[in-house]
Amino acid sequence: MDRRMLIAGNWKMYTTSGEGVILIQDLTELVRDHWDSVEVVVCPPFTGLKAASTVIEIDRLTIGLGAQDVHWEDEGAFTGAIAPRMLAELRCDYVIIGHSERREYFGETDETVNRKVKATFAAGMTPIMCCGETLDTRENMETESFVRGQVVSGAADLSAEQAARLVIAYEPIWAIGTGRTPTPEAANDVCRTIRATIGAMYGPPAAMSCRILYGGSVKPENAKMFFAEPDIDGALVGGAALKADSFADVVKAAL
Ligand code: 13P
Repeated sequence: MDRRMLIAGNWKMYTTSGEGVILIQDLTELVRDHWDSVEVVVCPPFTGLKAASTVIEIDRLTIGLGAQDVHWEDEGAFTGAIAPRMLAELRCDYVIIGHSERREYFGETDETVNRKVKATFAAGMTPIMCCGETLDTRENMETESFVRGQVVSGAADLSAEQAARLVIAYEPIWAIGTGRTPTPEAANDVCRTIRATIGAMYGPPAAMSCRILYGGSVKPENAKMFFAEPDIDGALVGGAALKADSFADVVKAAL
């Protein structure tokens, strides 16, 4: 099965709308020859989505757009929240769901993750569903069962066709923003477990088609090692996605 490599930049709470446009334009200069082979996605803060969407359309860039969160309802009295159809209107292709920072600081649970995953599909976009263990969980040798549980709950009640399109980002919490990473083999072991879990839930074709990204201190220097692993189909990049040259170098590592 030929899964297309996907490199997504999670800009977190960095970049104003104007800074985001410049970052996209600088990035475009560096990766324009490569995006036939690698899918490149940027995920600005909500306030930057409109300008990003406009520059992607006007400059005809083959770059995907993602949001960093979404509510599961279509509309309603949910002050501060953003509905799936609002993101779809801005031509978002992807929505990051259940990032560990949302789980830790904003009370996201496996149940809300699942609601958001289903609502994102229903609005015609693709979820990038995040999972990953704490250092304690890893040291207790419980990583695989913990991550399996997150996937079983977060990806529940989909169709097999949706499961085949799902993107799952495996991000060990202790590797995010720390410069520490698992070995590529250890990361691949968890990604293989995630794929097997999708296979048990939705059948082998879904497991073979869904894409699984590694995230956590991905840099130009280590990206290639992760991308060489059979169950790793790309990366969800934080810090290194905020500079055009380092993000471009991660993209080139996936060629
Ligand atoms: P870093 O690449 O900065 O470690 O962040 C990873 C991440 O959280 C991406 O979602």
